[in-house]
Amino acid sequence: MSRPFKTLDDMGDVHGKRVLVREDLNVPMADGQVTDDTRMRATVPTVTELADRGAIVLVLAHFGRPKGPAPELSLAMLTRPYEQLLGRPVRYVDWEGDAAAVAMLQPGDIALLENTRFFGGEEKNDPAVVERMAALGDLYVNDAFSAAHRAHASTEGLAHALPAFAGRQMEAELDALDKALGSPEHPVAAVVGGAKVSTKLDVLQHLVARVDHLIIGGGMANTFLAARGVNVGKSLCEHDLASTAEAIMAAADRAGCTVHLPYDVVVATEFKPNPATRTVNVHEVGADEMILDVGPAATEALGDVLKNCRTLVWNGPLGAFETPPFDAATVALAKTAAALTQDGSLVSVAGGGDTVAALNQAGVAADFTFVSTAGGAFLEWMEGKALPGVAALAR
Ligand code: 3PG
Repeated sequence: MSRPFKTLDDMGDVHGKRVLVREDLNVPMADGQVTDDTRMRATVPTVTELADRGAIVLVLAHFGRPKGPAPELSLAMLTRPYEQLLGRPVRYVDWEGDAAAVAMLQPGDIALLENTRFFGGEEKNDPAVVERMAALGDLYVNDAFSAAHRAHASTEGLAHALPAFAGRQMEAELDALDKALGSPEHPVAAVVGGAKVSTKLDVLQHLVARVDHLIIGGGMANTFLAARGVNVGKSLCEHDLASTAEAIMAAADRAGCTVHLPYDVVVATEFKPNPATRTVNVHEVGADEMILDVGPAATEALGDVLKNCRTLVWNGPLGAFETPPFDAATVALAKTAAALTQDGSLVSVAGGGDTVAALNQAGVAADFTFVSTAGGAFLEWMEGKALPGVAALAR
């Protein structure tokens, strides 16, 4: 398959070559322990393949958002978990004496370099930082799709300083995203959920012209319902965005995209785990009630929509899924999507922090065609933006 970027398959003989590999090791941690190693696991294929091919593998990554050196965000703390995951030694290299440390490494060795954001100029894509990092390597691999929305020295600048290639995770992400929105099989459905319309305006505007069904869930749906004249009671709702919501619905109409809003909903007067709830028609929400999930009838109808689709792209939960029982619609629709995927009738691609947590909660993440490791980058891709880290890899 010919791709617009080079991959590890195009690197030729890398034996003894120093390869700077940008990974995303920005994993959640609590009390010094990695609490979700999904992103770390995603780096394994690239790092082990290069080491097995005899490269000297120099892993570059950021952690947190330091503005310069910050010992509490040192990647030294990830060295041990990374070694355990890779099942091979990993040498931690800080930014003092890095050149000497790298010169000692042998073919097949793996080193984890200190947090790239310890350089003040990393986020500014400062040419001096690019040069400083480039001097350590012969080749550059970007495997961090989830950081590709940043035009930083290690995610963008290096691609111009050294021969640049996409890593296996980057390749898998780009292939999956292309299948979902680049050149998808129609009909295409998009599920867009989350609390606020204001954070996903660009996503919605981009999608209406590209998908056949736009399923809106979460707090965002309330803004659309209110724009249609529904009284949403005390629900989270951006009333000031009513005209924007109307404009999105009009654009969808013009493009032949059907917008699906819930017609039954689960409401409560208090937002807490397992409160008293009612399932009502959207026109029966009480003045003191909040909409906290899509109702069972609408959820079933959405499942029927997916049954007639070939492609699904999903970002954001349908309800307040962290608080039971308001995860019910998200879990049910995710299970339907997973079953259709396993039957071979649907290509399903999901991404974004909350989305992945929701799919894990539903126990179906492994049954989707592809679950992105990206948060912000996935969203920017859904907005139709060019991601600088990806653009810089173009052949
Ligand atoms: C992420 O966690 O989404 C990526 O690692 C990017 O991190 P950033 O938002 O701090 O740039």
